[in-house]
Amino acid sequence: MKNVVYQGMTFEPYIRREEINEQIKRLAAEIKRDCQSENPIFLCVLNGAFVFAADLYREIDLPKSEITFIRFKSYEGTSSTGDVKQVMGLVEDISGREVIIIEDIVDTGVTAVQLRKKLAEYAPKSVKMVSLLFKPDSLKQGTAPEYVGFSIPPRFILGYGLDIDGMARNLPDIYVLKKDE
Ligand code: IMP
Ligand code: MG
Repeated sequence: MKNVVYQGMTFEPYIRREEINEQIKRLAAEIKRDCQSENPIFLCVLNGAFVFAADLYREIDLPKSEITFIRFKSYEGTSSTGDVKQVMGLVEDISGREVIIIEDIVDTGVTAVQLRKKLAEYAPKSVKMVSLLFKPDSLKQGTAPEYVGFSIPPRFILGYGLDIDGMARNLPDIYVLKKDE
């Protein structure tokens, strides 16, 4: 695999698609095992989680489950603004339902905290989060997601849904910003 360049910055291969697939299988099995109801609702956080959600959801064979989407935005370039905007709301009724949030990455935890606060207003039965990636050393608010694919150091990554100013989401593997040599 080759390095890729975005916005004048070089990114090197970090997590291969095959490793992602393995973790998705594990996560899907854990989520299914822990499900208390037959009709949980999965909530994909756009835009970053759409690739992961598509792959994860197809591994979870719960015929009465549903998936829906919500949109939040907190990042500008390669760092979190700390200010989270909800730019697309929730239309489904989640009251009394088991909700599983699907995130691409938990970094500062700001988005996760805001999202859980927002969802609590609709009185769901329970709320859990599955995140493909988690940067434990960057966490400033809230707790670790209940399900984590990979715990990684606080470096900027892209690909497999993760972007830099909207680009690179279509890379099949995950890349990391190269350290200065
Ligand atoms: P948090 O609110 O700081 O936890 O950040 C959550 C959002 O920031 C994620 O859902 C991503 O969209 C974005 N994000 C965090 N770290 C990265 C990264 O390394 N690359 C690309 N996007 C990231
Ligand atoms: Mg995101």
